[in-house]
Amino acid sequence: MRDEALAQIITDIKRKRELAGLADTVVRGKVLKALRAQPKLSSLLDRPFKEFSRRADYKALRREVRRRLREIYGVFDLDNKRQREALVSKGDVRDMTVVRQLLALHQSSKERLPFYPRVYREIFSRTGVPSTILDIGCGANPYSYHFLGCKPRYVAVDLPSDELALLNTFFERAGIDGEVKGLDVVDDADCIGKLGSFDVCFCFKLLDSLETVKRHSAKKVLGSLNAQWIIVSFPTLSIGGGKRIKQERRTWFEHFLAKQEWSYESFEIPNEVFYIIPKGLPERPLRKRKAVLVNDERGGSDTAVMREETIEERTIEEKRRS
Ligand SMILES: C[S@@+](CC[C@H](N)C(=O)[O-])C[C@H]1O[C@@H](n2cnc3c(N)ncnc32)[C@H](O)[C@@H]1O
Repeated sequence: MRDEALAQIITDIKRKRELAGLADTVVRGKVLKALRAQPKLSSLLDRPFKEFSRRADYKALRREVRRRLREIYGVFDLDNKRQREALVSKGDVRDMTVVRQLLALHQSSKERLPFYPRVYREIFSRTGVPSTILDIGCGANPYSYHFLGCKPRYVAVDLPSDELALLNTFFERAGIDGEVKGLDVVDDADCIGKLGSFDVCFCFKLLDSLETVKRHSAKKVLGSLNAQWIIVSFPTLSIGGGKRIKQERRTWFEHFLAKQEWSYESFEIPNEVFYIIPKGLPERPLRKRKAVLVNDERGGSDTAVMREETIEERTIEEKRRS
């Protein structure tokens, strides 16, 4: 009965279009957590759902779970889901116009879109050229593969959802050595180390939401990663470019880095700040430097431009050996 009631709650929550693509297991976890905080409501789960779902405390729980899911799932533009599917399954996924359209369909990558060449140039000039990349909480970021300026093996991790299947089709059709993994990194932080070892790991605009869901979970994720370099980013403007997010919001993270004695460099683009952290390399002091980039990238920049501008051509392996 309880399982039946849970299934009905999950279906009810997923009636919102933007949440419909989430795997039931993801929603179930959040529902169970919310129910644990409401023993009275939980004790009524065996009532007929029609009656149960009219209760004000159930409606409040449903609202809260949906809010949480939106917060952690990020904002895919669902009005454009059909367009995204058509682009991935029928479009020329090696064409930069198509790639830009795909990146524009998720809030985070849309905001980063004019700056991709610059972001990857900034990162790889410090890390060297990666042969392997792990992208955790990837959202639509893997669609930026052609902006990397190199051809690493790419493993993309996100909560299980049908968006990952689409990403897989993109990898296949674009001839990318890529793989997708549906994983809740809060619940399965230990699995991250088992994904293998990587030259570079991206954690773009992810850690705050992990910490909101479970305190210290972001630190656990960073600790479990098997990567030479970790690149973490945070938004500096609230979604949609509204209010400036104060630097103090990242104090917990900078304290954590200091405690681990992990050095870092950082740089900014208008809506986002990036930290470049040499996790796996033998400790070598890095100058803490902040390069603030304010200029817009010219609209037409793509991989061709990336190759002309010299990102350091040494691979991470060569760098490590020297
Ligand atoms: C704000 S979006 C950022 C997307 C992408 N990293 C970018 O910056 O373009 C946060 C992403 O993290 C994913 N995410 C949130 N919590 C997660 C978890 N516990 N495990 C795996 N992925 C998670 C969400 O599904 C979403 O795609």
